[in-house]
Amino acid sequence: MSKILVTGGTGYIGSHTVVALQEAGYTPVIIDNLSNSNKGVLKQIAAITGNVPEFHEFDLCDEQRVLQFVKENPDITGVIHFAASKAVGESVEQPIKYYRNNFFSLINLLTAYKDQVVNFVFSSSCTVYGQPKELPVTENAPVQKAESPYGNTKQVAEEILNDTAKAFDNYHIIALRYFNPVGAHKSALIGELPLGVPQNLVPFITQTAIGKREKITVFGNDYNTPDGSAIRDYIHVVDLAKAHVAAIKRLEDGKASGNYEVFNIGTGKGLSVLEIIRAFEDSTGVKLNYQIGPRRAGDIEKVWGDVSKSTAELGWKAELGVEEMMRSAWAWEVYLQEQHPFD
Ligand code: WQD
Repeated sequence: MSKILVTGGTGYIGSHTVVALQEAGYTPVIIDNLSNSNKGVLKQIAAITGNVPEFHEFDLCDEQRVLQFVKENPDITGVIHFAASKAVGESVEQPIKYYRNNFFSLINLLTAYKDQVVNFVFSSSCTVYGQPKELPVTENAPVQKAESPYGNTKQVAEEILNDTAKAFDNYHIIALRYFNPVGAHKSALIGELPLGVPQNLVPFITQTAIGKREKITVFGNDYNTPDGSAIRDYIHVVDLAKAHVAAIKRLEDGKASGNYEVFNIGTGKGLSVLEIIRAFEDSTGVKLNYQIGPRRAGDIEKVWGDVSKSTAELGWKAELGVEEMMRSAWAWEVYLQEQHPFD
């Protein structure tokens, strides 16, 4: 089966997608600059699948390096592009870093593939919708001005891809708009590895549960939702990884309608922060120390996806429920604490 370049492949979603690709018979090739991941993930992947993925360490912002790599690897027919800076809060403090990293890496990849047909799957985000006016949100919903430079890089990246697909017919592109990726592989050998204080809800929950954090703050319980806390569409990272394989397969089978398509990748179900906390406690038996605090700047109130297009056209549907999301996230946190796989 074909060779697929996975940029950011030692990262959270990237590593789970490398496992899913190997299990589907593809040969993933990773490029990662290890700025937000650990090279030790390679041996963890091998412990799951039996194959150490090919790995190249360099920065995709280095145009010459990217051009040289693509020239030296003509047998790579597809790209799944994860590599990007992705912390909402950090992007507000460091916009130049975000615009430089996220745009230079994308543009260098597109430039390198300008003379050949390439199947290109892009890691986008539901953040492009902002606070949708209608829920569940469909792919036709208007893209709203992003609240953060991070969200803006996803919106503009989609425009770059759309314009490129219109101008040239050798790029066959799918953008996957993720909702909230959570959980870990059932082996507990790979998972989310946040550097420093976690920004996202679930790693903060598991670090609080294991005692690395004293308590977790619920950012607001005065939203217009049933229990007052904000609602998101949480999706298991293994389901998300499989959606990338389905997207590559769609492109390889020539089933895409047009050279640029967008798909929502979520469960179609919304859960509040307090429901997630309760699901964690019920799934793991571990009580959480939490308090209610003020809303976090930039947060939207509620979002969940209409995923009927992904099911109908990608033949993909999320299978894992919130119990497995919480159980696997906790098992991964315990594994990190007990085995220190990356020390
Ligand atoms: C979820 C909910 C918080 C921490 C962002 C990006 C998205 C994707 C995922 C990269 C919110 C609440 C959180 C805490 C809390 N990014 N929360 N206490 O902001 O929905 O999405 O991260 O892949 O593109 O937009 O995710 O996990 O930060 O927050 O109450 O300590 O949990 O307010 O309601 P978010 P999140």
